[in-house]
Amino acid sequence: MHKLVLIRHGESTWNLENRFTGWTDVDLTPTGVSQAMSAGRLLKAEGWDFDLCFTSVLKRAIHTLWYVLDEMDRVWLPVIKDWRLNERHYGALQGLNKADMAKQYGDEQVLVWRRSYDTPPPPLAPNDPRGQRQDRRYAALPPEQIPLTECLKDTVARVVPCWNDTIVPAIRSGQRVLIAAHGNSIRALIKHLDGISDTDIVGLNIPNGIPLVYEFDDDMKPLRRYYLGDAVAAEAAAAAVARQGKA
Ligand code: 3PG
Repeated sequence: MHKLVLIRHGESTWNLENRFTGWTDVDLTPTGVSQAMSAGRLLKAEGWDFDLCFTSVLKRAIHTLWYVLDEMDRVWLPVIKDWRLNERHYGALQGLNKADMAKQYGDEQVLVWRRSYDTPPPPLAPNDPRGQRQDRRYAALPPEQIPLTECLKDTVARVVPCWNDTIVPAIRSGQRVLIAAHGNSIRALIKHLDGISDTDIVGLNIPNGIPLVYEFDDDMKPLRRYYLGDAVAAEAAAAAVARQGKA
C-alpha cells in the first residue's frame, strides 16, 4: 500500500481579506503560519515521515511546506517546485473581494466562477499588470501557455500530467511524498483520483492547513482519503471555505 499527504497552504493575506487570489503571489498570515506549524506537529506526533516534497511556485504553499517541515525537523528534504501545482488562475477576478462580487453579480454567478468545472472567470488582458506573462519564474513557458484565466478543467489538464509524470513514479518507487498546494489544484487532483463527476466537484471545498491523507493500493488505485486530526473541525473549515463566495 502507498500513502500520500496533501496540504493546502495555511491562511493567506488574501484569504483573510476574502479576495480572489489565483496566481497572485501573496504570503501567509500569522494564522496561516500557525496552521502550517500545527500541521507539522500533528504529522510528527502521528509518526509520519517523508522522502520527497512537491509544491507550487507560489510562496503561500512554499512557506507552508517550510513550516510543516521545520516542525518535523525535515527542512533538509528535497523539494520539487512545479508551476503545474499552482492555484487555478482566477483571471480578471484576481484581487477582487469574493463577497463584494456576490453582492454585485449574485451568489449563483460567484459559485459558477469558483466551482463550475468548465466555465472560466473572465480573462485578464494579456498586458494586465496583474498577469504573469512578464514574471521570470514562468520564463520556461511559451507566453501563450501562461494562463489569463482557468476553469477547473484547465487546472486538471496541467495537474494530472504533473501527477503522472513526476509524482506517481516517486510514490511507486517507494518514496513517501508530501505535497503542499492550493484549494483548486488539490480539487483538480481529487477529481482525477476519485473520478468525481463535473457536478459533484462543485460541492468539494478544501480547508487551509489540514493534512489530507490518500491511501493507494499497489497499482496506485485510491482506497481512501481522510483528514488528519479533528474530522469535525476539518468539515467545518471546508464549509467556511464554501461560504466565502456568499454576499
Ligand atoms: C483563491 O485563489 O482565491 C483561493 O486560494 C481559492 O479560492 P476559492 O476557494 O474561491 O476557489
